[in-house]
Amino acid sequence: MKVSPSLLSANFANLTPDIEMLNNSEADYLHLDVMDGVFVPNISFGFPVLKAVSKICEKPLDVHLMIIEPEKWISQVRDLGAEYMNVHQEACLHLHSTVSRIHDAGMKAAVTLNPSTPVSLLSDIITDVDMVLLMSVNPGFGGQKFIANTLKKVRELRQLIAESGSQALIEIDGGVNAQTGKQLAEVGADILVAGSYVFGASNPEERINLLKNL
Ligand code: DX5
Ligand code: ZN
Repeated sequence: MKVSPSLLSANFANLTPDIEMLNNSEADYLHLDVMDGVFVPNISFGFPVLKAVSKICEKPLDVHLMIIEPEKWISQVRDLGAEYMNVHQEACLHLHSTVSRIHDAGMKAAVTLNPSTPVSLLSDIITDVDMVLLMSVNPGFGGQKFIANTLKKVRELRQLIAESGSQALIEIDGGVNAQTGKQLAEVGADILVAGSYVFGASNPEERINLLKNL
């Protein structure tokens, strides 16, 4: 299992020790949650913070944009050196165009679905994306309860990927812990995002290792 700890639950008053912990950990990515107060009912951090974090983070960046019109920010995300640019299907009027532009900028393209958005909406774009991120909580806040219907969606997505010959990875975000992580591993998730489960622990590296070994 690959693990992408979310900075949203780190210590915003002093991010450096948390990022150094991640650099020395077995984490595969750093997940960065950008919120605009419009697409989601919360505001997190923007490009000045992302830029400072990208300078000291040695893990590949997985940037999750919970914002309207994410296509306006492609070059800024590229300038961070991000590996994945994650855009919400619900926030893109012209999703195919946005995915193509993310690729043209040299990044991997990920499309995120809210809990109420059906997997079938991606059937005509699944071979064009590098990753699908299924939200297992309503986006906007860390520390929420895992929505069990996500397990059904992972199975459906696994099937869509297999039938289409797509290479897309399946990432899950929200309410991930040892228990839900195990269930997600069983239905075929590839990458788990974890915020409070990792940063809320006295030994975050142990939690990362636990998820990695699922
Ligand atoms: C929520 C964010 C998540 C969040 C997950 O909108 O997209 O990445 O950090 O937090 P936990 O793991 O605490 O549910
Ligand atoms: Zn996220």
